[in-house]
Amino acid sequence: MAKDVIIACDFASEEETMTFLNKFTEERPFVKIGMELYYACGPSIVKKIKDRGHPIFLDLKLHDIPNTVKKAMAVLSNLDVDICNLHAAGTTAMMKAALEGLTRPDGTRPLLIAVTQLTSTDQEAMERDLLIKEPIDQVVMHYALTAKNAGLDGVVCSPLEAGKVHDVCGESFLTVTPGVRFADSGADDQKRVMTPAKAREVGSDYIVVGRPITQASDPVAAYRRCVSEFLGK
Ligand code: C5P
Repeated sequence: MAKDVIIACDFASEEETMTFLNKFTEERPFVKIGMELYYACGPSIVKKIKDRGHPIFLDLKLHDIPNTVKKAMAVLSNLDVDICNLHAAGTTAMMKAALEGLTRPDGTRPLLIAVTQLTSTDQEAMERDLLIKEPIDQVVMHYALTAKNAGLDGVVCSPLEAGKVHDVCGESFLTVTPGVRFADSGADDQKRVMTPAKAREVGSDYIVVGRPITQASDPVAAYRRCVSEFLGK
């Protein structure tokens, strides 16, 4: 299975994004486009980055009725993204509809992964606001298994959960993990972080790295360091 480093391009404009990507003259890193950039620039930003040769994880976290998600996913599939995602909380029916929408006439489709519980949601908020009383790690594993049974390819999770997700859902079920930091850098607002090397050890399939690369004085060197620590090359 292809393991890789995905750069979270959390920029507010096309100009900033392209200035950043222009620094990469030799490699074409996997890029995550989130809501901020997508809503600021529209679908054309996906095409522009794709045309430069970057694989794309479009992180829009869809969550709506099955029919709406199915139709929206068909649009995203036409954009030729490589990975997209949704909230597992949308239930099995929504996840199956999403897969149908994503599948192109030739049978190919982007990978589809699920958000289980957002890492910004803690036990207290889950109990109080969502009325879910079970321990949050059990809830995360239950959502992961539901996503797997619906036919999805993996989940976004903390690297701290990657091993358990593989135990519960199998080794080939993808774990895409943000919250990665170099041993000698700060955590920013991430609470529980792991180094790229440790993320590899615990079985992360893709690590999502933003500020340690985008805000580095030499982003290309930071990216290469991340790749070498994560892939052990
Ligand atoms: O800059 P940093 O490395 O913290 O960026 C991590 C990226 O992963 C951001 O785009 C953030 O929104 C995303 N993310 C996360 N935690 C999650 C899900 C997504 O940090 N649970």
